[in-house]
Amino acid sequence: SMIADPLTKGLPPKVFHEHTTLKGWRTPNLYLFQRFWCQPKEIQAIISAQTHFEAHDSDVIIATIPKSGTTWLKALVFAIVNRRRFDVNSIDHPLLRSNPHDLVPFLEYKVYADNQVPNLSNLDSPRLFASHVPYTSNCKVVCICRNPFDTFVSIWHFMTNIRPNNLGPFSLEEAFDMYCMGQVGYGPYWDHMLGYWKESLNSPQKVMFLKYEDLKEDVNLQVTRLAEFLGCLFSAQEKRDHVVEDITKLCSFQNMKNLEVNKDGKSILNFDNKGLFRKGEVGDWVNLLSEEMVERLSQIMDEKLAGTGLEF
Ligand code: A3P
Repeated sequence: SMIADPLTKGLPPKVFHEHTTLKGWRTPNLYLFQRFWCQPKEIQAIISAQTHFEAHDSDVIIATIPKSGTTWLKALVFAIVNRRRFDVNSIDHPLLRSNPHDLVPFLEYKVYADNQVPNLSNLDSPRLFASHVPYTSNCKVVCICRNPFDTFVSIWHFMTNIRPNNLGPFSLEEAFDMYCMGQVGYGPYWDHMLGYWKESLNSPQKVMFLKYEDLKEDVNLQVTRLAEFLGCLFSAQEKRDHVVEDITKLCSFQNMKNLEVNKDGKSILNFDNKGLFRKGEVGDWVNLLSEEMVERLSQIMDEKLAGTGLEF
């Protein structure tokens, strides 16, 4: 039987049979759509983006799995590509006044949300957008992912904060079980990662693949690589002037977390920006996952990533 939901009107019926629906993490249901799990509101916007968005060669899309470092990567890419327009050390830098999600909007949460079809042709080039949707793009893409242990823990804390009470309880065990089956927004996340990973191997000039852990290890190096990929190398003079380091400082966890706009504002749907800055560490999963959980997820990752060259 069909799910009666006004938002799904006009969509192909086969997408919405009951066997393709699950309990949601922060909404009543998740639906399987185009082979990934998402929500009716997102589906509408994704279809709209797929129908109306015309990529320019100069566009950059930041593609991520939720909670894998999206906010950080948006900030870094914005600062890098706009550094001639906005001096990194300016006290008026847009990143000091706006959350990165306002500067690099999600196609599915902002640009095409609520049935909007905006005219994007007047935006300055390079246009920066973001998406959580698995790989389909034909412009430049920077993808970030993160080890699934920390990603799960980050999602768990985030969802625990925003899940409305009227949806009833959602235990850690239940969430983890769903995560292990790939049943999480834009999952299975291994398909998401591997789609971008493979594309980055096939077309390294079009898709750059980053890991949160690599950014944590040496963010200056990754900023230099990003600039190279994005076609805006740092000049010798800029290097002498420490522009790379100034960018990473501007976008650092501590700096961003303490900005007024990130303490009070809301930039994605009705979520508090505050919730986007929790710990920003690698390995926080030791504080939440049991030995059995670690064992189970390790086995799944070994199986899914075997032979792909992608590891964490
Ligand atoms: P934790 O929950 O582990 O702290 P996303 O931006 O994709 O939603 O990912 C959120 C995760 O990135 C959170 O992880 C958050 O703390 C971390 N994060 C946000 N801004 C960051 C920054 N500037 N540097 C490092 N990590 C950051």
